[in-house]
Amino acid sequence: MDDMIEAIAEEIRNCTRCSLAEGRTNAVPGEGAADADIMFIGEGPGQHEDRQGRPFVGPAGKLLDELLQDAGLRREQVFITNIIKCRAPQNRDPRPDEIQACRGYLDGQIAAINPQVICLVGRPATQTLLDPKASISKIHGRPFERDGILYVPIYHPAACLHNPGLRSAVVEDFEKLKALLDQHLG
Ligand code: URA
Repeated sequence: MDDMIEAIAEEIRNCTRCSLAEGRTNAVPGEGAADADIMFIGEGPGQHEDRQGRPFVGPAGKLLDELLQDAGLRREQVFITNIIKCRAPQNRDPRPDEIQACRGYLDGQIAAINPQVICLVGRPATQTLLDPKASISKIHGRPFERDGILYVPIYHPAACLHNPGLRSAVVEDFEKLKALLDQHLG
């Protein structure tokens, strides 16, 4: 499993499937336990992630770490990745062709890890994996079971960095996630 995850990561680091490859410093394959029960899937690398080649290491990542800790989770025991693996210019939303070009990597990671729970962090991940028309403000915190995997869409931690009024909603999503994990994983 570790080998499969590392093989996918190596492919991602060398990827030229879309034009985002031209602007990147580093591709960001994702990191964590290759046998994790839970995966977190975000939108895409930002400036800090692009520099370091690691997911969620900027301000949103700091907040994610705190929320994980409050939920009794450590980074090393989960797997954290994104729907696109290279930074989009000015952190714009990923385009459908970029998501499509990267999709095989994400599907490969999900198949290799075979998690019980996938936490969809923010709108683009939710729309990519659950429903292209999903409204994150309507379905955040609500679990959906599909093909034996429990998908849990949540607000992106960056949302409350931009809009402090959303902080309680972000914290509540993590509390719901923790309750679901306790129920689902025991
Ligand atoms: N935001 C994301 O969606 N992913 C990252 O890796 C960092 C910030």
